[in-house]
Parts: sequence; C-alpha cells; structure tokens
Amino acid sequence: MAQTPVKVTVTGAAGQIGYALLFRIASGQLLGADVPVTLSLLEVPQAVKAAEGTAMELDDCAFPLLRGIEIADDPNVAFDGANVALLVGAMPRKAGMERGDLLEANGGIFGPQGKAINDHAADDIRVLVVGNPANTNALIAQQHAPDVPAERFTAMTRLDHNRALSQLAAKLGVPVTEIKKMTIWGNHSATQYPDLFHTEIGGKIAAEQVDESWLRDTFIPTVAKRGAAIIDARGASSAASAANAAIDHVHDWVNGTEWTSAAIVSDGSYGVPEGLISSFPVASRGGRWEIIQGLEIDAFSRERIDASVRELEEERDAVRKLGLI
Ligand code: NAD
Ligand code: LMR
Repeated sequence: MAQTPVKVTVTGAAGQIGYALLFRIASGQLLGADVPVTLSLLEVPQAVKAAEGTAMELDDCAFPLLRGIEIADDPNVAFDGANVALLVGAMPRKAGMERGDLLEANGGIFGPQGKAINDHAADDIRVLVVGNPANTNALIAQQHAPDVPAERFTAMTRLDHNRALSQLAAKLGVPVTEIKKMTIWGNHSATQYPDLFHTEIGGKIAAEQVDESWLRDTFIPTVAKRGAAIIDARGASSAASAANAAIDHVHDWVNGTEWTSAAIVSDGSYGVPEGLISSFPVASRGGRWEIIQGLEIDAFSRERIDASVRELEEERDAVRKLGLI
C-alpha cells in the first residue's frame, strides 16, 4: 500500500537556511530514505516569489520522495495538516547584536504561528524552532498552542552540540564518532554551557583528557560564541550548518537516539524551572524526547547552567512584559 506522505512545513523558506534545508528534506534526509514527504513553504508576501523559485528548483531535482509543494503567506494555510513544522523564518542578528536584541523583533512572529499550529496542524505535530532567540520563540509558540502537548515544542541547540563535538575532536585528534555523551545545557546563546564532565571518549571522561584552562578559556567560549564568529567571517549568520543541525534534530526525534542535546520543555529536572524551554542531555525513544536523568552536576557546571537558565527566565519575563505570552 502506498505510504501517506508526511507534511513538513518550513517557515522562512526563501531565506538562506531554508535554501540549505529544503533539498535535504526532499531527498529523504529528514525522516528517512523510504518516507515520502510534501513540503509546505511559508513566507511573508514579499518573499513568496523567491519561494516559488526555490519550489521550481525542487521540482527540477525530480526527488523520488517529494510528493508535492505548497506555498503560502498565511500560517493557517501553511500549517494545515502539518506533521513536522520547522520554524526558521525570523530576522537573523547582524554583527554586534546579541540574540536578546531580537526578542522584540522576532517574538511577534511566533504567537500567531503557535496559534495556527494549535488550530490546524495534525495531531502528531512536532515543532522545531530555529529562528532566534530560538528557546524563547519556542516558548511563545508553545504558549499559544494549548491543545498541543507542550513536549512537541522544541528549540535547536543541535548546532551548538555539533560545534562542541568538532572542537573537542580537533583538540584530541579523534574522529567525532569516538565522542559520546556530549551535552549542551541552557539557552542557544553565549551563556550556553557545553559540558565535558559527562562526555566520554573511549570510555574516559573528556574533561579529564584536556587542560582545565583549555576547557574554561577556549572550549566553552569558542562553542558559545561560534555563531558570532561565523557572522564576522561570512558576513551572514550560519546557514548550511544550521540546516544540517535541524535535519539531525528532527531525524533523531523521529528515529531515536541514545544521547544528544535539544532544548525541550523543562519538567523541573536539574533545577531548571518547569515550563522553560532549555537545552538538556536527551534521548529519544518511541518518538519522544526524554531528559537523561541522574547526572552529577559539580559546582563548576552548576554555576554555568544556572547562569544560562537565569537568562532564559529574563527572556521569558521580557516577552511577558511585551504581552507576547
Ligand atoms: P534569512 O534572513 O536568510 O531568512 C529568513 C526568512 O524568513 C526570510 O526569507 C524572511 O522573509 C522570512 N520570514 C520573516 N518573517 C517571517 C514570517 N513571519 N513568516 C514566514 N517567513 C518569515 O535568515 P536565515 O539566515 O535563514 O536565519 C533564519 C533564523 O534562524 C534567524 O533568526 C537566525 O538567527 C536563526 N538561526 C538559528 C540558529 C540556531 O542554531 N538556532 C542557527 C542559525 C540561524
Ligand atoms: C548561530 O548560532 O550560528 C546562530 O544562532 C546565529 C547567531 O545569531 O549566532
């Protein structure tokens, strides 16, 4: 029997991440090489024509798994029947801006999109927010979707996770595949905490294989400020690596993994206030993220996790003040 295609809605489809993402979804890398998809592209009216151009190129690839493309400028249309929603559409920060500067500019996008998801998406909808500030935008969308289980709203810290893997692999001269149990905690921002105290290489703790000064003064800031370094070098924010991380996040959510990092709604684990969308070490089993429990958190890690979580609380309070939640 022919399999029903999975409907994947991508917002900001005409943007630079959209361009790096759509072809990989259509080729089967998001959900699996045997899963047909339809794509729904959401854009602002002035970018619909550019999205139509991307759709023409998608057609021209004759992807065997791509069963249809829709383009809309209305979230109620774009999310109708969606099974997966990738919320990418938002302004990227420019040189010299912090992600917090985007709260007001981008926050307003995510309430109406959350409501449209609430009212029109399929029952099994899974949402990944990429547009910055991703954690708080995900919170805004989730708060506007009271009929969707909160656990279906997530934000992307997989790019930070992948950056941390690469930095550590280069330092120790090992392939990234040798590194297990990497964790990003907190916000997708400069306060994030990449944790090497539970990371293992050949069964040994990574933090014990590097100098403390490298860990503290090089590794953590390099990972946490990598987005700004890319903006500085490229003159534009990361795009292909961000699209790659979005593919990894959804692929693992649907197909399962024993350990990665994702920003999900806190259940109070590790002292992170319930309801905040914060990055944790997670596994995915049966299509659901689970926070990995029972890790010992020492004073060094505690201080850094708490600082990032405090920033998330401040962002939440700021969007509350703006009337966005
Ligand atoms: P871009 O400017 O190239 O594209 C953004 C697109 O979104 C544009 O085409 C714009 O028209 C569209 N858009 C704006 N408002 C919209 C709305 N209401 N509905 C639908 N579409 C809308 O930007 P980009 O480089 O693709 O980046 C997109 C976002 O992703 C930025 O906020 C950026 O900071 C963020 N980002 C996040 C991560 C992460 O790890 N979480 C990494 C890289 C970039
Ligand atoms: C990134 O991490 O590359 C993005 O979030 C872009 C940014 O604003 O840092």
